[in-house]
Amino acid sequence: MENMGIDKLGEWRRTHDCGSLRTGDVGREALLMGWVNSRRDLGNLIFIDLRDRQGITQVVFDPRVDEQSHRKAHALRNEWVLAVKGKVTPRLEGQENPNLPTGAIELKATNLRILNQTEPPPFQVDGPVDASETLRLKYRYLELRRNRVFQNFRRRHLITSFIRDYLNAHEFIDVETPFLTKSTPEGARDYLVPSRVSKGRFYALPQSPQLFKQILMISGFDRYYQIVRCFRDEDLRADRQPEFTQVDLEMSFTDEEGVMGITEGMMAGLFKEVLDKQISSPIPRITYQDSMERFGNDRPDMRFGMELRDITAVARESDFKVFKGVAAEGGAVKAIRVEKGADSFSRKDLDSLGRIVNQWGAKGLSWIKVGDGGWKSPIAKFFDEGQMNAVNGLMEANPGDLILLVAEKPELTNHCLGMLRQEVAKRMGLINEDDYAFVWVYRFPLLEYDEDEARWQAVHHPFTAPMDEDIPLLRSRPERVRARSYDLVLNGAEIGGGSVRIHYTALQEMVFDVLGISREEADRKFGFFLEALKYGAPPHAGIALGLDRLVAIMTGVESIREIIAFPKTQAATCPLTGAPTPVSEHQLKELGLSRDVDL
Ligand code: AMO
Repeated sequence: MENMGIDKLGEWRRTHDCGSLRTGDVGREALLMGWVNSRRDLGNLIFIDLRDRQGITQVVFDPRVDEQSHRKAHALRNEWVLAVKGKVTPRLEGQENPNLPTGAIELKATNLRILNQTEPPPFQVDGPVDASETLRLKYRYLELRRNRVFQNFRRRHLITSFIRDYLNAHEFIDVETPFLTKSTPEGARDYLVPSRVSKGRFYALPQSPQLFKQILMISGFDRYYQIVRCFRDEDLRADRQPEFTQVDLEMSFTDEEGVMGITEGMMAGLFKEVLDKQISSPIPRITYQDSMERFGNDRPDMRFGMELRDITAVARESDFKVFKGVAAEGGAVKAIRVEKGADSFSRKDLDSLGRIVNQWGAKGLSWIKVGDGGWKSPIAKFFDEGQMNAVNGLMEANPGDLILLVAEKPELTNHCLGMLRQEVAKRMGLINEDDYAFVWVYRFPLLEYDEDEARWQAVHHPFTAPMDEDIPLLRSRPERVRARSYDLVLNGAEIGGGSVRIHYTALQEMVFDVLGISREEADRKFGFFLEALKYGAPPHAGIALGLDRLVAIMTGVESIREIIAFPKTQAATCPLTGAPTPVSEHQLKELGLSRDVDL
């Protein structure tokens, strides 16, 4: 049979990868295999950059060295798959490529096998990333050929390997929990899987292994972990995917200290090993309440300061009607100080910031440029000298600084200034991309009121323990009850969350009651778990880290989609496989599902 331009691999085996040859190898015979990254055909000489996952090596086809391979090399195109035998030689003086680890040498081809050809690729593998996301995901395998992209996956692998080793060394055991299961309480919609055997019944894919890991504690497993896929049907964003991975762990006979300690040790070791970075240890802690007051949100970016300060007391005394009115109605006048920001923001810039703040819900943004002789500000005329000094003092402001102020209801003031703090830090270049600033945010409220459903909801999940001293408030002042929960925040992103769990039935039932979950509903949804809780549950606590978010930050990519091999689009579709797809009438029938629904 004709070989169709394709050679056999035969007995040929690689001696090296495409990233490893150096000047020390000059004179050696080498056999490389890989893809054509680029080619330059100068007629007498043909240069190929040969690529594999380790790098790129320049191959030269010279008719004076081997006539036959030179002739074959004329036909080569980008992304063809080759095996090349040759001799490692130094590049001519001036032809070295200092950007390439192999850039001092080249392989002079003595023999060539074409292992495969290709259709013209829909985008250049080694070119600029300008194709649409749908096209890139449809041909994701070509995008994954990019060295930079592959290196991110290698780093992801290093991260998971380190985490496994660390947890194994701390006597955690890896246990798999079911995917075909029952709804788990993480607050998103479930992905459902119809049962063929029990028609009209459905499994739910787990939103997390929460109840199984707690049951494993009841079983006495003591320390459990799993690097596990979770499924949540929720609105997608850059840091959310419908299926994502958690580093999930649970520990018995311990509390928040035990879990935070293990997690900190893991993060310190991980950042040292993978990025050679020393993270601040112990990781600072801030209560939810403080975080909201000082940073305006519950996931503060600690790479820079610019904390929110409350100036309501002074603002109330000023002649500025807006501030006085807000203060009189229980609102908050708060501000951030942009160090040396006075000259960095023109009138126009400040107007545009004002418009942004409007979008976040505030009526306006006030500003003060602090100068040597006093304030330059549209609101200066409403403040006497003593009040100006008081504000400067509270803000620790110096000449040249800019103060940005918002006056609204306390939550809105915090929210707007928190967002503004981030925006201004970006504009002022205050964020050092090489910094990794961790913080624990702890003691979240146990419950939040859901206006739409007119009932209380668990902020974390309903198995989270309230603080002992707040238990008496559960019925009388549910909004005041603080949870024994904690989030791990890195550079302004929530990368993990966990809690001490309720481990005895009476308290669990009381929490369900406050959540408006009737005994029947609780039994229907979590009866199996409530039953298990009766059989000697030890005190236990745990956490789950969002592995994709952690890897995204550690690789410096914008979206978790980049470090998931086959991610979904914003619309939760997979352009590569076309999922989700319609199914046949036959399949639907077999599952007892009807097509008689309006789509
Ligand atoms: P939680 O719901 O806070 O806790 O999830 C833990 C962490 O998982 C990550 N995460 C996500 N990452 C990508 N895409 C998503 N859709 C997504 N949703 C969550 C976040 C988050 O901090 N069972 C509890 C943990 C526990 O209490 O032990 C849980 O799942 O980084």
